[in-house]
Amino acid sequence: MCGIVGYVGSKDALPILLESLKKLEYRGYDSSGVGFLDHDAHLIIRKAKGKIRNLEELIRSRPLPFACAGISHTRWATHGFPSDKNAHPHTDNKHTIAVVHNGIIENYQDLKAALKKKGCKFVSETDSEVIPHLIASFYKGDLLTAVRHAIAKLKGTFALGIISRDHPGMLIAARVGSPLIVGIGEHENFIASDVPAILDFTRRVIYLKDGQMAVLTRDKVELSTFDGKKVTPKIDTVSFNVVAARKEGYPYFMLKEIHEQPDVLKQMLSLRLKNKRLALEGLGLSDDILRRTRKVMVVACGTAYHAGLVGKYIIENLARLPVEVDTSSEFRYRNPIIDKHTLVLAVSQSGETADTLAASREARAKGAKVIAICNVVGSSLAREADGILYTYAGQEIGVASTKAYTAQLMMFYLVALKLAQARKSLSPKASKDLMAQLLRIPSLCTEILKDMHNIKKIAETNSHFGCFLFLGRHVNFPSAMEGALKLKEISYIPAEGYAAGEMKHGPIALIDEYRAVVCINPQSHVYEKMSSNMQEIRARRGNVIAIATRGDREIKSNADFVIEIPATPELLSPLLVALPLQMLAYFIAVKRGCDVDQPRNLAKSVTVE
Ligand code: AGP
Repeated sequence: MCGIVGYVGSKDALPILLESLKKLEYRGYDSSGVGFLDHDAHLIIRKAKGKIRNLEELIRSRPLPFACAGISHTRWATHGFPSDKNAHPHTDNKHTIAVVHNGIIENYQDLKAALKKKGCKFVSETDSEVIPHLIASFYKGDLLTAVRHAIAKLKGTFALGIISRDHPGMLIAARVGSPLIVGIGEHENFIASDVPAILDFTRRVIYLKDGQMAVLTRDKVELSTFDGKKVTPKIDTVSFNVVAARKEGYPYFMLKEIHEQPDVLKQMLSLRLKNKRLALEGLGLSDDILRRTRKVMVVACGTAYHAGLVGKYIIENLARLPVEVDTSSEFRYRNPIIDKHTLVLAVSQSGETADTLAASREARAKGAKVIAICNVVGSSLAREADGILYTYAGQEIGVASTKAYTAQLMMFYLVALKLAQARKSLSPKASKDLMAQLLRIPSLCTEILKDMHNIKKIAETNSHFGCFLFLGRHVNFPSAMEGALKLKEISYIPAEGYAAGEMKHGPIALIDEYRAVVCINPQSHVYEKMSSNMQEIRARRGNVIAIATRGDREIKSNADFVIEIPATPELLSPLLVALPLQMLAYFIAVKRGCDVDQPRNLAKSVTVE
């Protein structure tokens, strides 16, 4: 993971590096650092454990000279603890070359052993530190050649930013597997892990491809392949804007994003259901292709995977097409059976998740059409897919996905409707009714948010439990998994999401008076079955928090606490159920004093395998 930024130009590099780096904190925040060259070509490095604000404080306390070129890095630890010494940039022993790295060097142990034999002293536990030593070992005055030789030895993934004391006005970049862009400015040039990081400075960007490197000076950018072939750069002008998100009075971004859901869904529907007609142009597939589709395959990670699991119920139900759902990391290594008649939906908020990118490449290589369901405009996944359906949920800052999840769910309803219409598996009336029900969802979400104080009370009352189970059936089985993920990622409480029917096959052994069990049981064809499971839990003294349809009197006799949601057709209920689950996790985490927006060990975007 990690985020990198580099600058070379006529302005002071340091403030630019720090400002841009803060926009990459979603990629990791366990330590950060800058390395730059002042006017006398001194290589100065500053690093600090923790968030970028720690690095800023360090720099404030020991002000630094004007710098014309530099590199910066925000880290998500893969090899070695989060610490000052493991933070980037890393240097060679002569302190001549500094490197920032995003990715994983898989053969670093062999390289390290060989470099040690040659006398190199390593100061960190990272895989990345081999890179400056390796470059230095090849360096005979020509930095570019030394970098080429070093890169030829690396196995794994990398996006690199490299500066050297001997080449004060030069910045070298290279990539394999990890994203990296070059920004073209006026008498200044940039590199960054993504576009928004440098949008305040330039809109002209080059998307580096795997196997390409760039040499940047103040007035020039030269591209080549690793083996030295010149590449003519393709410069894109970025048209989208990224408005800096603000908390607007909310204590955390997560709470703000939870509250944004009615508007996000409303806006999505107004864009995608024009005059009750589906507007999914980005799909780019004719009705004929949709009719000939034999299977849908969803690939995604984490919360997006849970959205995909709900999507399976939706698409199978409405379009009567078989749907397989796989975590991207499993999909790509299991030799999946797909062909040109398979429609692959790659779901990702960020569009930068390494496994989902790799899975969609694998699917395309096998001849399938890949449609991305993605939130971040212009992301790698969006650029690479055959079709793109943006969820337009707006920037999501909280590491725990909330509004992006419900927007992904909504997109699944719309895609299922599209498939159903093309395949005529749904009558025009049923299709119209479903659209009408979908249009009600935003205002039903608003109603749920009004119950926030009740949910907060229930959350706080149960925040002492050391273990939670989340149970659901049918379309709300994935909701249970998502509820558990939300809780564990922001409160660190062990939590599991299960299909309620599976409980007696093992998990029921966990139940006693020290467990809290969230039972998702809105009105549905599995209501009675779920109610029986709730009784089984209570018979074993488990504490039951039920999520049920408003007006359900029976539920009270099966639960210790009840959170009500408005009535909606069973198939649409995950859209509503998501909100109380998010709020439960949020208020429990806040009560336990956790950093809700930036939980430990996590990053918003997982850019390594
Ligand atoms: C969600 O709360 C998580 N932080 C995480 O599981 C996330 O959904 C996952 O990493 C996938 O990210 P993506 O949607 O950006 O691909």
